[in-house]
Amino acid sequence: MLVSAKEMLNKAKAGHYAVGQFNINNLEWTKAILLTAEEMKSPVILGVSEGAGKYMCGYKTIVGMVEGMIEGLSITVPVALHLDHGSYEHAYKCIEAGFSSVMFDGSKYPIEENVEKTKELVKVCAEKGLSLEAEVGAIGGEEDGVVGNGEVADPAECKMIADLGVTMLAAGIGNIHGKYPANWAGLRFDTLEKISEMTGDMPLVLHGGTGIPADMIKKAISLGVSKINVNTECQLAFADATRSYIEAGKDREGKGFDPRKLLAPGTEAIKATVREKIELFGSAGKA
Ligand code: 13P
Repeated sequence: MLVSAKEMLNKAKAGHYAVGQFNINNLEWTKAILLTAEEMKSPVILGVSEGAGKYMCGYKTIVGMVEGMIEGLSITVPVALHLDHGSYEHAYKCIEAGFSSVMFDGSKYPIEENVEKTKELVKVCAEKGLSLEAEVGAIGGEEDGVVGNGEVADPAECKMIADLGVTMLAAGIGNIHGKYPANWAGLRFDTLEKISEMTGDMPLVLHGGTGIPADMIKKAISLGVSKINVNTECQLAFADATRSYIEAGKDREGKGFDPRKLLAPGTEAIKATVREKIELFGSAGKA
């Protein structure tokens, strides 16, 4: 059964560790992440971007696949199915389709409008027992064609949104989606510290987990980050392993072209990435 992310994130905040949100793209991704979370006895959040939702033939298909897999693979750890960077319309679509968690990314709106729309969704999610993530300060980089500037959030605005009763809050602190450029200045811990002070117990979310050095991840967790999103790193690991398989000519040996064989090295590579992140985030054994 899918669960809201509220309990797992409140526990993570209190216990000074973070739960990983790993974005899914298809069956192999979902299976690799669920099996690894189960193996490590870690709670987990499956993230779905609007683009990935469309790719996987709509939110209902995803709910069916994930619920089926939880049963079919005998997954016992808490699993939240979460819309990543949702628009107002898609937040409603996911709520209707049976997601257990949604993100409404109102960071592109003026703060008043972000507050209004978030407030409405707080009410809807509370009625249905779902968790809600809000965002202040756009995260840079490109995701599904949406490009942000990598803003640094205003801690006062973070408090305004946190006070609405959201479950978790994403704030821009110099993080970006995708690979970090060589001249990246690093995370803005000064801002994170202020946001943490002003928002108290609110679990904070760090987007753009790919490529953030381990020491920065640990420091961010010590300053109140309780959810870390990883997407690109699993994609890169999958692509590298698949390339090696094909470059080694293995698809031309015997039945190596069978998708169950062809996609196996990539799937194993996703598992290895997820395992490494769960260890780094400290959520192993917390389910
Ligand atoms: P990366 O693709 O940089 O890991 O970011 C993932 C993310 O933040 C999803 O919201």
